[in-house]
Amino acid sequence: MTDWVKTAWRNKPRVQMPEYTDPAALAEVEDQLAKYPPLVFAGEAMRLRGELAKAARGEAFLLQGGDCAESFAEFSGDNIRDTFKVMLQMAMVLTYGAKVPVVKVGRMAGQFAKPRSAPTETLDGVELPSYRGDIINELDFTADARIPDPRKMLKAYTQSAATVNLLRAFSTGGLADVHQVHQWTLGFTEKEEAQKYRDMANRLSDTLDFMKAAGITADKLHTLQTVDFYTSHEALLLEYEEALTRLDVTTGKTVAGSGHMIWIGDRTRQPDGAHVEFCRGVINPIGLKCGPTTTEEDLKVLMGKLNPENEAGRLTLIARFGAGKVADHLPRLIKTVQEEGANVVWSCDPMHGNTIKSASGYKTRPFDSVLREVQEFFAVHKAEGSIPGGVHFEMTGQDVTECTGGVRAVKDEDLSDRYHTACDPRLNASQSLELAFLVAEELSALREGPVKQAKAG
Ligand code: PEP
Ligand code: CO
Repeated sequence: MTDWVKTAWRNKPRVQMPEYTDPAALAEVEDQLAKYPPLVFAGEAMRLRGELAKAARGEAFLLQGGDCAESFAEFSGDNIRDTFKVMLQMAMVLTYGAKVPVVKVGRMAGQFAKPRSAPTETLDGVELPSYRGDIINELDFTADARIPDPRKMLKAYTQSAATVNLLRAFSTGGLADVHQVHQWTLGFTEKEEAQKYRDMANRLSDTLDFMKAAGITADKLHTLQTVDFYTSHEALLLEYEEALTRLDVTTGKTVAGSGHMIWIGDRTRQPDGAHVEFCRGVINPIGLKCGPTTTEEDLKVLMGKLNPENEAGRLTLIARFGAGKVADHLPRLIKTVQEEGANVVWSCDPMHGNTIKSASGYKTRPFDSVLREVQEFFAVHKAEGSIPGGVHFEMTGQDVTECTGGVRAVKDEDLSDRYHTACDPRLNASQSLELAFLVAEELSALREGPVKQAKAG
């Protein structure tokens, strides 16, 4: 891109970013980060673009998932391992349903900065700036903790580097033991609604047994032993993003070195704003959240800015409308994409439109609403003749109690048991896997079943 410089976002209106009070400390951090090695390379980002191009055509399926916000306190090798493992299990189930490869992208190794619905928070009559993620300030409700501190970027970078390092090791180290599939559903108890998942797991297990009997074991089947696993996060804190931006000497292209894929949030997608300006100039795959307030006109302008060459794999539209609202909004945006002849991946985020306050006061998401939004997403695509290319979840490999419902039902009164998220409620391991079975079911119905009508709102 010839008319772009990595600092140009600084001249555009910015929202959801902190006002740092110590410019000298900020400049020092930016200088340091600019010298540090990038976390990902241009070739990897381009490879992911190739994979996503397949998802745009229905020849692959995107599974993107991980924490709402990574945190310094919850950082551990076990947490990374468990999320990685559940994502591989989900990918296996989805591959079985979709009969196409699954592109695995973690909301990991950089997912620290959070947009907030209000700039301040009031508790017992005390008003303080909102918590914006561990890369910016602290969750504690004290005036000191809420001051944005640029030095936190260095800690987030170090944690991201360690996370990427472990993910790379897992990806080549054969952690993915795909032969345990029948055990994955053990936690689903004997409930009737889980029977179809157990049946699918049994069929998948049979297939693997057959492959083994036929001599096709994991060590011979390279792809079952090593996996491609990519990282992603919302490119919200642009000082951090700019400092990790690198010119790739072999291609002459500019890459955001902070993660393979970056996305623009629902609150920062102003066509003339700073976030769009930054993202348009880097070669990474870009995600764009689309919500109820996304207009057809804005989408047209954004697609033109973010993907002027209309290359498949460059742009993923992440729909997040809320259960019951998908049929009100998705058809008009799909029509815009079709009218423009735009190549995009359509992905479904059934999390961010379904957050409620529980009776016990916790922020939660009912599993039923999450499921329903996914079903509505598939139904609308079927009706519109477009391709559902992926899903985007907030999830963890831990047995947390943050979202209610699921076959191992988490109830309202259970939320306080293991509510660990620093931000939005995540699906736990069992709920994540259950969702993967549901998506697999939708995908195989899409391949084989009769055309369904989209469900009205
Ligand atoms: C997120 O994905 O964490 C997020 C804040 O989503 P959205 O921008 O869609 O609200
Ligand atoms: Co979130």
